[in-house]
Amino acid sequence: MHKQQKINKKIALIGMMGSGKSTIGYILSKKLNLRFVDIDKKIENSENNSILEIFETKGEEYFRKIEEKITIREFNKNEEAVISIGGGSFLNKKTRNTILKKSISFWLNWKSETIIERIKNSKKRPIANKLDVYEIKELINFRAKTYVKSNFKINCENLSKNQIVKKILNIYEN
Ligand code: S3P
Repeated sequence: MHKQQKINKKIALIGMMGSGKSTIGYILSKKLNLRFVDIDKKIENSENNSILEIFETKGEEYFRKIEEKITIREFNKNEEAVISIGGGSFLNKKTRNTILKKSISFWLNWKSETIIERIKNSKKRPIANKLDVYEIKELINFRAKTYVKSNFKINCENLSKNQIVKKILNIYEN
């Protein structure tokens, strides 16, 4: 990737719930000395409510509208940043096009079994809460067809957090 393209370009972390976007994003932002933005947190702050509560009281459609608005706003800011987006956000075409235009995107890819193990008992995740293991697997396969549109796919299985960060930095800095 040519250096010129990176000016004011953000790093976007894409992937399923439980793929480590927030953790990896935070470490990356420290290493690069950039602002770290966790879109889920931005939504919670702007709504003054937890993601779970927003889903329960206002429904998914409402959540997706706010998610689109906040995600696009963050990607349109004229500054560099590392941004971790919600697992469903990249499925929205308008959001995805903005992310692809404004950032270098990395899909944190794991085996379905690993993701399922991490999210199946999560109480905080409204999407995972209502699905059984088979349905989560279906969702992972379905979303993978869109996640693959990210600029880079990082196969994270068997890698430590630092190794994942190194892989991303190698691509970003070269
Ligand atoms: C969602 C993922 C969550 C959050 C919401 C919906 C999804 O974000 O935005 O619960 O549809 O996959 P994380 O991927 O950060 O857990």
